[in-house]
Amino acid sequence: MSPVLSAALAKKIDDLAARYPAKQAALLPVLHLVQNEKGFLSAEDEQAVAERLGILPVKVREVVTFYTMFRRSPVGKYHIQVCTNLSCSLAGGDGLVEHLEARLGISLGGTTADGKFTLTGVECLGACEQAPCLMINFDYYGNLDAAGIDRILEGLA
Ligand code: FES
Repeated sequence: MSPVLSAALAKKIDDLAARYPAKQAALLPVLHLVQNEKGFLSAEDEQAVAERLGILPVKVREVVTFYTMFRRSPVGKYHIQVCTNLSCSLAGGDGLVEHLEARLGISLGGTTADGKFTLTGVECLGACEQAPCLMINFDYYGNLDAAGIDRILEGLA
């Protein structure tokens, strides 16, 4: 059975942790590192990170479940994170969610059958001045309406 963390990934984690006075301070960048390499963070990954950083697994779970940028299951090629918080809702965000669900044929939390899109509702993206907004992978899109979303989706291969 192969280890949860490859030797190369374990070395990257150790190198990253060495930059901090306490290894546990590297938790956020280490989780990003593991997620970038593996696509999402499994329970086994959480356990392995905890062991590597010398912290309790529950501390890793707390962080992974608090921040919506961490994924606990595989996502599609394009991960659409649509803000469902107050400013975006007041600016028409609820209608955008309905439009995305209808257009993609999935509900919040779902992935299209072809694995191309995952749709997730998230808390404030910190871009309220562009409400309503969403992120697709690491790109922000704001001041959206249904037509704008359609143009964006049509541009994604
Ligand atoms: S409420 Fe949507 S970005 Fe802040």
